[in-house]
Amino acid sequence: MLVSVQNIRKSFAVGDSWFKKSRHEVLKGVSFELFEGECLGLLGESGSGKSTLGKVILGIENPDSGEVVFADAISDLPSHEKMSVVFQDYTSSVNPRLRVEEIISEPLLRTQLTHAEKKQKVNELLVEVGLSESMKTRFPHQLSGGQLQRVCIARAIAPSPKFILLDEAVSSLDVSVQAQVLDLLANLKQRFGLSYLFITHDITVAAYLCNRILIFQDGKVVEQVDDLNNLAHATNNYAKQLLSAAHFLERAFTEPAA
Ligand SMILES: Nc1ncnc2c1ncn2[C@@H]1O[C@H](COP(=O)(O)OP(=O)(O)OP(=O)(O)O)[C@@H](O)[C@H]1O
Ligand SMILES: [Mg+2]
Repeated sequence: MLVSVQNIRKSFAVGDSWFKKSRHEVLKGVSFELFEGECLGLLGESGSGKSTLGKVILGIENPDSGEVVFADAISDLPSHEKMSVVFQDYTSSVNPRLRVEEIISEPLLRTQLTHAEKKQKVNELLVEVGLSESMKTRFPHQLSGGQLQRVCIARAIAPSPKFILLDEAVSSLDVSVQAQVLDLLANLKQRFGLSYLFITHDITVAAYLCNRILIFQDGKVVEQVDDLNNLAHATNNYAKQLLSAAHFLERAFTEPAA
């Protein structure tokens, strides 16, 4: 086990006046384990609480109760060496005034590397994510969406974290670019022995990259699929709906229109 998520509950206050305040429970007791070297998918519909869970794991939000426990081997590492994150919205997750090389080297500021070593590392990271070194002097607005998401991935792997939280990391990309970025992620995972928690609402994307999938609905894990060949045997109704929608889409793409 690398990360153990134990019975996480999280609610937010709703209502605009202090005397009418009530709480909306977004996470209703979530537990699972992420193992070393795996890509664990967290699949669920919009608003089901996936990003909130991601924020709790990253330590950006505090849970009302429950705990996120890291394996002994990584629990003492500084947080940037434990985990990093790639978000859906690559445009707002980078500072538009920084050049690509500054964006990628930002997490390296906390390391002992010399200036020259950082420059060298940025060059290597650009190549790792399939970009050319010449792109390092560009600003974010001078890149395509797919290129900018690759920059965000380079920044995420820069501090050599043990695991990466990918929150809808390919959802804003074109389908063809999506496939390239998924292949890149699969390749980096292999090369660097990374583990991923891959949050998505897209079952096709989850099935492409993940070893195991947790199906998430209304703040709870409702089904765990350990063997993706068994996706078709899911017992939960919501899981079945997702699967039939994916099947429908697959047919729509593979069968010529009448
Ligand atoms: N800081 C907050 N304050 C109040 N409510 C919040 C806050 N953050 C999230 N919520 C609520 O929690 C619920 C779950 O939101 P969350 O972003 O976790 O969903 P999600 O599964 O990631 O959805 P999507 O697939 O659309 O990204 C929503 O109803 C949202 O409005
Ligand atoms: Mg979300």
